[in-house]
Amino acid sequence: MRKVQDYYFKKAKKDQYPARSVYKLEEVQAKYRFMRRGDSVLDLGCFPGSWSLFAAEVVGPKGVVVGVDLQQAIESPRPGSAPIHWLCQDIMEPELVPLVRRIRPAFKVLISDLAPKTTGNRWADSQHSIDLVRRTLALAEILLLDRGHYICKVFQGEDFPAFVDEVKQRFAMVKVLKPRSSRVESREVFVLAMEYRRPETVAASAAPDQNGMDGMNESD
Ligand SMILES: C[S@@+](CC[C@H](N)C(=O)[O-])C[C@H]1O[C@@H](n2cnc3c(N)ncnc32)[C@H](O)[C@@H]1O
Repeated sequence: MRKVQDYYFKKAKKDQYPARSVYKLEEVQAKYRFMRRGDSVLDLGCFPGSWSLFAAEVVGPKGVVVGVDLQQAIESPRPGSAPIHWLCQDIMEPELVPLVRRIRPAFKVLISDLAPKTTGNRWADSQHSIDLVRRTLALAEILLLDRGHYICKVFQGEDFPAFVDEVKQRFAMVKVLKPRSSRVESREVFVLAMEYRRPETVAASAAPDQNGMDGMNESD
């Protein structure tokens, strides 16, 4: 176990990423390719900046990355990467949406590696964690483009199955993933959801067609 941790820690140093967490995102991206050249990416809980740096490399100079955290990130994107806008903000605050929209009105991908500060009170910590995760899903509904993608870190607790069900109602494809670089003893997993379906899109596809039928053959 220790050996695996050391491996990713040292690798991050060598690859000049400020945190080892980058390899969790890299692994999911390698398999599912949910970020593409030219995409816009919103990164919630971005500090110290590894996920944003990696996303900026993937989407390239025609893309854009907005990173939000309680702490101010300062990393510069690498040559050939997308520009990164760092916002020092609490994602729970309502002013976040207008601030983000000033940079970009909507995003193709929302990524979140948010982790709450723990207090040692198991119930309170778990509640805080699920509040953050639910807020990322609410922000996805406000800020994702139709058919956009979403990935968020979740610490599994009793609310986890209900949360996954909520995500399934909004996206065409949902996977729960545990990347190799995630510590085995950690309760963290990643929920990857692809192809966001705006409620109006779902409603439109389920709506009766012009002659009042629901797509089934008329019968007497
Ligand atoms: C595990 S770190 C993210 C690491 C980052 N993905 C990287 O690769 O560099 C989790 C971050 O979530 C941030 N965070 C926790 N609660 C937050 C909140 N309410 N608003 C914004 N950021 C928050 C913390 O400040 C912390 O920097």
